[in-house]
Amino acid sequence: MPVIPKPRDGLPAHVAIIMDGNGRWAEARGLSRSEGHRAGLEATRNAVRFFAEQGVGTLTLFAFSSENWGRPREEVEALFDLFVSAIEAELPELVERGIALRFIGDRATFPSDLQARMTEAEHATAGNDRMCLVVALGYGGRWDILQAARRWVADSDRGADPEAAFSGYLSTAGLPDVDLLIRTGGEHRVSNFLLWQAAYAELLFIETFWPDVTNTELEEGLTWYASRQRRFGRVPAAGDAAAPGEATGA
Ligand code: IPE
Ligand code: IPE
Ligand code: MG
Repeated sequence: MPVIPKPRDGLPAHVAIIMDGNGRWAEARGLSRSEGHRAGLEATRNAVRFFAEQGVGTLTLFAFSSENWGRPREEVEALFDLFVSAIEAELPELVERGIALRFIGDRATFPSDLQARMTEAEHATAGNDRMCLVVALGYGGRWDILQAARRWVADSDRGADPEAAFSGYLSTAGLPDVDLLIRTGGEHRVSNFLLWQAAYAELLFIETFWPDVTNTELEEGLTWYASRQRRFGRVPAAGDAAAPGEATGA
């Protein structure tokens, strides 16, 4: 797995986004939910470019949850068609920008053409090291912890730091914990996203529906993150003005 460069001071190493609000964006315009997802893809392309240009090392995008299987069949099928065409269309730019693509989630029940595209794109970008773009498809935080636990109990070599060792069994093995978790679309919940990995993430909830998100919201998110004092359960040292986005007392 490629070694992703450390980001500049005050910039999160790992940004994760719950890209929510496509359906409501479409409904407000009298469009179908699937048209909302198509509009969401534009915002996704922009966000990938934005975070890559900022120098963020890892960007994880929630595109389809394990619970989204419960949506109407037409919507699920339209989403899968969109994923297939998006992977094909975006691959050249990812290669050009040096972005490694990695999918997390249970892909076993995806249509075979989608599975094939996912694997091809992972192979085609595996050597890239400017940013790791993680796309969560068929992903659930509980699924991830459970699949890790199953392999964990079967393995006798757990090392001196069990939490670090367990992280190595999660689908995000080798990636840093989430520093900044953004959810668009106005809901204040985590919806079974990166439950283990976001244990100490800064949580930013914004009202804007995902298709309307532009660089302005993304820049504001990074500025807000840089103003946070991360304490990780500790207390700031006396007179300590914490460096932006950094733990105190570390
Ligand atoms: C998020 O947008 C995209 C997916 C879950 C695939 P939604 O489709 O959940 O949009 P809303 O929340 O219904 O507006
Ligand atoms: C979370 O959004 C999943 C994705 C963005 C892919 P949902 O729209 O599925 O979440 P809930 O149902 O509002 O919690
Ligand atoms: Mg939603």
